[in-house]
Amino acid sequence: MKKVRIGLIGTGRFGRLHLNVLQQLPGAEIAAISDVQKDALEKAASDFGLAKDICYTDPFGLIAREELDAVDIVSDEKSHGPLVLAALQHGKHVIVEKPLSVIYAEAEAIRKAAAESGRQVLVGNISRFSQPYFAIKRQIDEGRLGTIAAIRTKRNFSKSWFHGFGNRVHPVFESGVHELDLLVWYAGCRCTKVMSYERNMSGYAFPDLFSATLVFENGIVASLDSSWMVPAGSPQNLVETLELDGTIDAHIEVIGDQGTASYQLAHAGLSVWTDSGALHPETTLWPTGPEGIGGAIRLELEHFIHRIAENRPSEFMPLSDSVEVMKIAEAIVESGQTGRPVEL
Ligand SMILES: NC(=O)c1ccc[n+]([C@@H]2O[C@H](COP(=O)([O-])OP(=O)(O)OC[C@H]3O[C@@H](n4cnc5c(N)ncnc54)[C@H](O)[C@@H]3O)[C@@H](O)[C@H]2O)c1
Repeated sequence: MKKVRIGLIGTGRFGRLHLNVLQQLPGAEIAAISDVQKDALEKAASDFGLAKDICYTDPFGLIAREELDAVDIVSDEKSHGPLVLAALQHGKHVIVEKPLSVIYAEAEAIRKAAAESGRQVLVGNISRFSQPYFAIKRQIDEGRLGTIAAIRTKRNFSKSWFHGFGNRVHPVFESGVHELDLLVWYAGCRCTKVMSYERNMSGYAFPDLFSATLVFENGIVASLDSSWMVPAGSPQNLVETLELDGTIDAHIEVIGDQGTASYQLAHAGLSVWTDSGALHPETTLWPTGPEGIGGAIRLELEHFIHRIAENRPSEFMPLSDSVEVMKIAEAIVESGQTGRPVEL
């Protein structure tokens, strides 16, 4: 099979993880990279053995390269929308890290542009590829939980991470979109009403805590709580791979009239105790194994490469779900700021 030639934009922490995985995939070829920061770009080129003439400080220069099949966007959240649209205009398929955009109208424009161009836009909602979250989806679809009444979700991040994100993007577009994607996937229908509250404890531009209640068309009542206030003394579960050690404290509980299913990401079972502290290394998202990086990130990128090679939309990660997530995320911000519910 012909390799999918990919240009990757954003060689920061997660971009480097993508590069690592893409280099492992037989169906993918890293044909160009871009970062607006020259030092980050040069370091990635050197670490991944890539030639200088395929490195771009201007991402639009990369997008214009004729021989690329697809663009993988792993840059800052606010740059995603314009880069996705430019890639579609140049006839490229797109893999874009979450969030699809930070503006709902832009997400709708992407949906339209993707349909008109006949190209795929695949959003990296990694949780769908993580075995426990996928297993819960199967329980729902196979009717084991009966009719779903409520879904409760929580995702808290290390306080130290907020120094880099507090002036960068509202947390609903960073931590919150993980659970919003799961809620849209599990509920399987539109969200009709949102009420949200937020608090700003650390004085950055964006709140470090929000708490939202969502109502879906089929009656499901859902909650989404997210704070970036996990203290430094908490057992770390994000260690080694991402150059950003810390703690993700996430929990989901799906409540049906025949059963419940829940998953706790923070302390999934593995413990490492040393003189400097206790770790609970996370093993589902991007674990290092005998064949390199495995887990959900590898499954996700593999799935995307296959879909691009076949030019076939992913039924597992439809673009429409990510557009719906953007609508809800924007309503959460609006409700948190106005103190009023938002009808969708
Ligand atoms: N799925 C997950 O679990 C997960 C985890 C971490 C990050 N992410 C996502 O990955 C993306 C990147 O996050 P990160 O932690 O790597 O951030 P980062 O700050 O480490 O890296 C972002 C890089 O993008 C570059 N950049 C910014 N704007 C650019 C532009 N217009 N063109 C080219 N390069 C540009 C920056 O210079 C930087 O090197 C974000 O969307 C984030 O939400 C996803």
